[in-house]
Amino acid sequence: MPGCIVIGAQWGDEGKGKIVDILTAEASHVVRFQGGNNAGHTLVVDSGSGPVKTVLHLIPSGILHDDKVCVIASGVVVDPVVLLQEVQGLADGGLEVADDALLISRDAHVIMPYHCAVDIAREERRAGSKIGTTGRGIGPAYEDRAARRGVRISDLLDRDALRERLEQVVPERNVALEWFGVAPFDIDTLTDEYLAIGDKLRRWVGDCRQTLADARRSGAAILYEGAQGTLLDIGHGTYPFVTSSHTTAGGACTGAGVPPMSIDAVLGIAKAYATRVGSGPFPTELFDADGEALRAAGHEFGATTGRPRRCGWFDAPVMRYAVMVNGFTSLAITKLDVLTGMDELKICVAHDVDGQRLDVCRPDAAAMERAVPVYESMPGWTEDITGCQSVDELPANARAFVDRLSELSGCPVGIISVGPGRRQTIVLNSPFAGS
Ligand code: GDP
Ligand code: IMO
Ligand code: MG
Repeated sequence: MPGCIVIGAQWGDEGKGKIVDILTAEASHVVRFQGGNNAGHTLVVDSGSGPVKTVLHLIPSGILHDDKVCVIASGVVVDPVVLLQEVQGLADGGLEVADDALLISRDAHVIMPYHCAVDIAREERRAGSKIGTTGRGIGPAYEDRAARRGVRISDLLDRDALRERLEQVVPERNVALEWFGVAPFDIDTLTDEYLAIGDKLRRWVGDCRQTLADARRSGAAILYEGAQGTLLDIGHGTYPFVTSSHTTAGGACTGAGVPPMSIDAVLGIAKAYATRVGSGPFPTELFDADGEALRAAGHEFGATTGRPRRCGWFDAPVMRYAVMVNGFTSLAITKLDVLTGMDELKICVAHDVDGQRLDVCRPDAAAMERAVPVYESMPGWTEDITGCQSVDELPANARAFVDRLSELSGCPVGIISVGPGRRQTIVLNSPFAGS
């Protein structure tokens, strides 16, 4: 009953989608357990006519494989309009999402249009202190969940239940929206619209917990696909510059409703450098030509919002923190190819906060804002590594760099990614091996 959780070790966009797509070959179920369509997971698959890129926001990154079950578990907040668009987008590309290929938890909460309106209005009002949210209504939807007044997927299948929920929540949301100067929402219109949407989703709605329990009993391998990254965790990230869910490994069990003992491996995904979208501390951020070079070579623009990502050097104190919180059993180091051609590569080995040296980062936003990175340098390489199929084919300096990232993070590297494509991946040790 192997269970493997895939977690972003940094600030999101580490390449989780690509790695999950590859590991799906070894699994039967791929489960999104938190977050929503704030995520943007990119898969690049070779077709006869060249690489084809698919960006997924809600549907798990196993969907391109036949005969796998993609599960959207109860910890996810689902914008059903976006979900249906995503299904349609896949169909337009020739992939019909079959009834048994997708399972949406009836307990997952629904992102309603008033959630997006509040998210956007709040951010606009924050002026100089924006969180830089994706504007997808994630925070407000989780607020309603915690307040026990949220709309769940099951409510979209039952007129009376939906109406009752909306009567509880919409008047209050409307008062706030009016205060923000945003037009109010009408309960009758929302009821009709979202019942119609529920009708379209009905064929995929079911009981995820039971399905996953049955799968475990039958010995199936299950992948839990994290969204965002460790430092964006609501409880363990750089609050308030975080998202509204638990992005760390523990979130997989609560979000999917599976026991901790069913997890055998936790794979941390980390870029060979670092990026962050939105506001918040980022000690190794670069504002110079190296930062520009990383952004250009790594195409560092958000898969969800298109915003330029902030770029910086690999931060080992952040990685040690991520290893500590998530218990990574191995790492996938992605985007190593992006560093090709840089003369000198820097790695942050410690944070200096007010004269104190921290080997493990302190995710307190104010303290981390004051953190001065302590760097060491390594020589780069110039050879094109995007075709390398084994570690032995990597230039010695690239091998030494990956070894050093592993050593400083305190975790073995099991996968090295040298390009966006499926084949541009060196698997030293699958997280499923041995479980
Ligand atoms: P995710 O949110 O963690 O799934 O990551 P994103 O999809 O938002 O961002 C990762 C980006 O890097 C995508 O455009 C991927 O296609 C791309 N990518 C993933 N791995 C590699 C790699 O090893 N090299 C390069 N050059 N690009 C990669
Ligand atoms: P994937 O899964 C990177 C960031 C936003 C913002 C903060 C809060 O593709 O790695 P939210 O809309 O969640 O309330 O925004 O979190 N953020 C991400 N950054 N990758 C993501 O997802 C992100 N999802 C949210 O930029 O700073
Ligand atoms: Mg992303």
